[in-house]
Parts: sequence; C-alpha cells; structure tokens
Amino acid sequence: MDYREVLENAKSRIGAKCRVCRECNGIVCRGELPGMGGKGTGSSFIRNFEKLNEIKLNMDTIYEFKGVDTSIELFGKRFSFPIFAAPIGGLHIHYGNFYNDEGYTQAIVQGCKKAGTAGFTADGVDDESYDLPLKVVSEAGGWGIPTIKPWQKEEVKAKIKKAEAAGALAVAMDIDAAGLTTLALLGKPVSPKPVEEIKEIAASTNLPFIIKGIMTVKGAMKAVEAGAYGIVVSNHGGRVQDHTPAPVEVLPEISRAVGGKIKIFIDGGIRTGTDVLKVLALGADAVLIGRPYGVAAYGGGAEGVELYTKKIGSELIEAMIMTGCSKLSDINEDIIYKG
Ligand SMILES: Cc1cc2nc3c(=O)[nH]c(=O)nc-3n(C[C@H](O)[C@H](O)[C@H](O)COP(=O)(O)O)c2cc1C
Repeated sequence: MDYREVLENAKSRIGAKCRVCRECNGIVCRGELPGMGGKGTGSSFIRNFEKLNEIKLNMDTIYEFKGVDTSIELFGKRFSFPIFAAPIGGLHIHYGNFYNDEGYTQAIVQGCKKAGTAGFTADGVDDESYDLPLKVVSEAGGWGIPTIKPWQKEEVKAKIKKAEAAGALAVAMDIDAAGLTTLALLGKPVSPKPVEEIKEIAASTNLPFIIKGIMTVKGAMKAVEAGAYGIVVSNHGGRVQDHTPAPVEVLPEISRAVGGKIKIFIDGGIRTGTDVLKVLALGADAVLIGRPYGVAAYGGGAEGVELYTKKIGSELIEAMIMTGCSKLSDINEDIIYKG
C-alpha cells in the first residue's frame, strides 16, 4: 500500500463529511460541524494552516554530516519521532459508520506503535466512547494516552484510575472541550476548571498529566501551577471557538514563559515533516496531528497510520538535513527565516 492508495480508499470510506482534500486546510469544510470543519466561519482552522505556511526556513548544508536522530524521550519512553496522533472522538457523527470507536482506535494505536510513536485516544458522552478506546490501549500494553473531557471531578478521577489500570503512557484532559455546549445538551455537562481542581486531579495519579487546549501564556502558567507534566498548545483544530489565533502564533511566547518547566506539545494544521520542524524551532517538544490521521486510519487501517507516520517522519529527517540539524536539540529559532 502507498499513501496515494490510502487517500483513494479514504475517499470512499469516510463519506460526505471529509472530501480528503489535497490540502487539508479547512476551506471546503468551513463551519461543517459535525464533520471536519472549524467552528462558525471556520477561520480558526483556516488560520492554523495558513500561519504555518507563512513560516519559512533557512537552509544550511555546509557541515559535517553524522546522520540524523529524530528520537525523543517522553513519559520515560523513547519514541522514533516527536509525532503523536491527536484524539479524535465522535467517529460516527463526524465520519459515518465505517469504524466505531474501537476500530478507529485500533488503527491509530497499532499503526503508531509500529512506527515507533503513539496516539492519544478520545472520550465522549457515553461510557463506551472512553472504555472501548481504553481497552485497545490496554491490549497494546498501555501504548496510548487517553484524553478525558472536563467532566465533574469525581468522574475525571474515576476515568484516570481506569487509565492507570490499562497501563497507559500518560493521561490528558482536553480542557478546551469546556466550550462544547453540545455535551450539556446531551445531558453531560463539561465546564472550565479552576487551578485548584486541576491540581487535585493531577495529584491523584502518578501518570504524567497533560492539559490539551492551552492558547495563552496565562493558561500555560496555570498548567505549570497545577503540576501538569505537559500542555498541548491547541485550539482543538479550530472546533471550539471561532476567530482565535493559530497555535503556532502563540507558541513562541508560551515557550519563553514555560519552556523547560513543562513539556510543550502543539497541534493545529500540522501537515508535513517541514511543519513539524517549524514548530520544534519555535519551542515545541513534540506535535499532535488530527485530521490527516483520520484520513490515514480510514484509508489504510493500522498500515495506513504506520505509513503516514513514517512519511511525516522522513520529511522531518529531510528537513533537518537541509537546515543543519542532526538531532532534535539542535533545532532552534535560528532556522526560521526572519526576512
Ligand atoms: C473529527 C474530530 C474529532 C475530534 N475529537 C476530539 C476529541 O474527542 N478530543 C480532543 O481532545 N480533541 C478532538 N479533536 C481535536 C484534535 O484532537 C486536534 O486538536 C485537532 O484535530 C488538531 O488539528 P488538525 O486536525 O488540524 O491537525 C477532534 C478533531 C476532529 C477533526
């Protein structure tokens, strides 16, 4: 199977809600929710993609070449690339019936594992939407990062205990799902949480705790105060609020404020290994990728996910060679073109 085949298969399996565009940029699907789009005008998703494209790189190929190492240590484990699959939930409503939560998660968890990385898994209103992905993670020896919605405290803690029992690598909370009013309509409210409550939740587990959906220095500092292991600089792929900046725009100031104190992940519009290099240069430790992993999983199952991860990984290697970086710690703002 090659990536072209993955894309062709995905077109027939996903249904009308994702057109598997040549560039996954949020334009054709703008405002389509349920579906792939960004919320409202879709401007947040579109900006995520555009702002990354505006960043240009400085080439330097005069140096002694000793190979490239893209590996990274996180959660006490070594990964081949700083590239993780983002959590994708609500498969039926967003993609149609080809996969249920279990089938999709199997493709993600197993494909990422084979490529030497890992996937975040999702949560939802009914118990199964957390438990089925977690079962897959457990069967893969804990190789995944369950992502819990900001439900009421006791439910969050109970779900963390289940993640511990599954031997998960870490546990995350998409705090920005606090804006998903649809969940309240379905009878399960989510809400913003004060630092004290997040502190209590993070302290309730020995698993590394990651807060997904940080878009300001203030938010990042609160995550540090709460004792989080990491943050994901993210606007949920533009799906929770219209007219936000792109994560890549706020990344440098967040990195200056909390870099080194907490691991910084980022997502939103990252599509290529070159994009991965750009955000690492601007202060991220690692990236999450959302929609393209959906396409890879629908188009090729675990094999498609493995293939996609390795494709992005090889692009990262090529871009590192071209910018004079042999290992991830060599990557810094010097490789960004300042005009
Ligand atoms: C269909 C769909 C469902 C998603 N479901 C979740 C979810 O359940 N939990 C979560 O934290 N993020 C969810 N996200 C957001 C992604 O995890 C990620 O933040 C976003 O897709 C990154 O942007 P990208 O798709 O441009 O890479 C979802 C995104 C999409 C497109």
